[in-house]
Amino acid sequence: MNRTTSTTELVLPYIIQLDNLSPDKFIDYYQLNKPFIEEQLLINGAVKFAGVEINALDIFEHIVHSISTRFLNYVDGNSPRVKLSGSVYTSTEYDKSQVITMHNELSYSAKWPNKLFFTCLKPAERGGETLLADSREILQNMNPDIVKEIESRGLLYIRNLHSGDGMGPSWQETFETADKKELNNYCRKYNINYEWADGHNLRLKQPARGIINHRITGERIWFNQADQFHPLHLGAEMMEALELMYGAPEYFPMYVSYGDGKEISEDTIREILQTIGRVTKAPEWNKNELLIIDNELAAHGRNSFTGDRKVLVAMSE
Ligand SMILES: [Fe+2]
Repeated sequence: MNRTTSTTELVLPYIIQLDNLSPDKFIDYYQLNKPFIEEQLLINGAVKFAGVEINALDIFEHIVHSISTRFLNYVDGNSPRVKLSGSVYTSTEYDKSQVITMHNELSYSAKWPNKLFFTCLKPAERGGETLLADSREILQNMNPDIVKEIESRGLLYIRNLHSGDGMGPSWQETFETADKKELNNYCRKYNINYEWADGHNLRLKQPARGIINHRITGERIWFNQADQFHPLHLGAEMMEALELMYGAPEYFPMYVSYGDGKEISEDTIREILQTIGRVTKAPEWNKNELLIIDNELAAHGRNSFTGDRKVLVAMSE
């Protein structure tokens, strides 16, 4: 094994170069080095293995199921994806001309994955990197007034999900069910305030802290996707179109306010986007790589791209 990054500096991701290991050899390697890998994941926030022969969906699935357990469905997710098998999804079907802003997966939900597994079966022609930013670094660089306001008020994520005809994923796609009763139970279980807006469209309000302590290390981390839920990042033209279609922002497909309902100013969202942008890394994708992200320690996004791109993702507790 040839490590290309040192253990003393923080790198995102920490890269481990392997000698073109077959899937089963990689699984053996992983089990043997698990304490070291877990340690690097907690230090750096993400670990990327290069030189692992992953060239198909079933191989990716075999590997992730061998090195981790308790996989989660993308229930309650806010990004369009295609479920490819039991626990593997396309990373997102979101328009390739758009950058997906940085976020911690399902940070608006009461239950989020601890680890994310990615592989790239087909790199884009240009762009398409899975962007990464250290959640500790984001917090350290954030305007203290913004941090204080989020810590004291919390956040309230709002979604208006259509029932089959509208913008973004429907409630059936989002929750992987068409059974309203099942959905009502899910919302009650996870403290989601829900309302069937006109009998068919679902309106969700989810409170979240926005800044949390890491589940293992206890470090304070930026853990939210306020900027992603706020329509500002879509640009002025889109904002106008949404206003025409839905009226007030709280009826947009996605919106966010402080936990007590106070509006988050556009200047604040702008500053959040700029601060995160300054600490964001864009490691390029190659074939035969496996990326593991600690979902709390590192935020992720996706660069815009040209050409075809196939990235797979799985999420575990
Ligand atoms: Fe994501």
